[in-house]
Amino acid sequence: MSAEFVQVIGDCIRMTREVLFSTTGQPFIIAGSGTLGWDQAAANLTEPGESVLLLNSGYFGDSFTECFRAYGAEVDEVRADFGTAANLSDVEKALKAKKYRIVAFTHVDTSTGVLSDAKAIAETVKRVSPDTLVVVDAVCSVASEEILFDQWGLDVVLTASQKGLATPPGLSILLASPKAIQVFEQRTRPPASYYASWKKWLPVMKSYESGAAAYFATPPVNLIYAYHASLTQLTKRTPTLQERFALHRKASQRIKDELAAIGLKQLALDPYYAANGMTAVYFPEGLKAPDVIPRLLKKDVVVAGGLHKDNKEKYFRIGHMGITVVNEERGDVDKIIAAVKESISEALAEADSKKAAIPVNGSSEGPRPLARL
Ligand SMILES: Cc1ncc(COP(=O)(O)O)c(C=O)c1O
Repeated sequence: MSAEFVQVIGDCIRMTREVLFSTTGQPFIIAGSGTLGWDQAAANLTEPGESVLLLNSGYFGDSFTECFRAYGAEVDEVRADFGTAANLSDVEKALKAKKYRIVAFTHVDTSTGVLSDAKAIAETVKRVSPDTLVVVDAVCSVASEEILFDQWGLDVVLTASQKGLATPPGLSILLASPKAIQVFEQRTRPPASYYASWKKWLPVMKSYESGAAAYFATPPVNLIYAYHASLTQLTKRTPTLQERFALHRKASQRIKDELAAIGLKQLALDPYYAANGMTAVYFPEGLKAPDVIPRLLKKDVVVAGGLHKDNKEKYFRIGHMGITVVNEERGDVDKIIAAVKESISEALAEADSKKAAIPVNGSSEGPRPLARL
């Protein structure tokens, strides 16, 4: 709680607004992972029995729903087909049929690399149901995808430190609109969480920003300093944020094109649904994660396996965020593309040679002895 620390976290609060192009939003920066953002939204903005419309585009949509239900919200889902985001006309239909406190969605579902059109969703909600709050899980998109918080009329953007914000894991970072804060202040019951309650955190965040020490629970001082360093890079140095988004789009397109050229198909069914900070692609027919991922590791490239329950075994995910993309001199993107190409071709060659070793009668143990027939 030194004066020096208060200045640093105060700067983080101000720069968090800048990253999301907001002048009016209220940032919350709290020790915890991205998941705590779901708890903050559910605990502070819903009361038991209130309705939430959740636009579900993957694994993280399922968990987001589960979190709202844990606080007693009634959740209806618009479920997107695998590899796509929720259809806007389905969203409009749902909003016309029922009054919702919140429309919530995952901006980039990290399980599939599917991007939802946050601007278009917010426009639809404002037009059809202007009182409804728009809550965006942007854990996998902040600083990799453009998010214009004020201009698009978003009410909550929740994220975490460890992805595009390029800070070690451990911070739950959230921006709430004045309307969201008003809804919170007009609650009839206190939030059903102690640690995630904005009743506790709002005065603390305001105090930090005004330069005065305040305490509710111990801030993770080391992470706040790291976050300050990242935010300074993002908001005070070149490339600018808009230039960074353009670099992400360029790198993402290159990775997707190069992998398509060797026959790897993306999970996102259309470029409109394809995230720019990550790529999820299917393995070629006959290959699985253990055939490819250890080979990539040997080449110092770490990727993630599949996560979505429907197709877990069939695909893998490449993260291309932050310095990997922005510092082109590092050559990370070239390295990733080359390593994936080599690993896939080695794995295919090995699978072919194994097949060739199997004799025509189908047994790899050689001709079957008569006695066993
Ligand atoms: C889209 C999305 N939402 C929420 C989370 C949960 O964040 P955390 O693992 O930091 O709790 C993740 C984690 O990867 C995510 O990708």
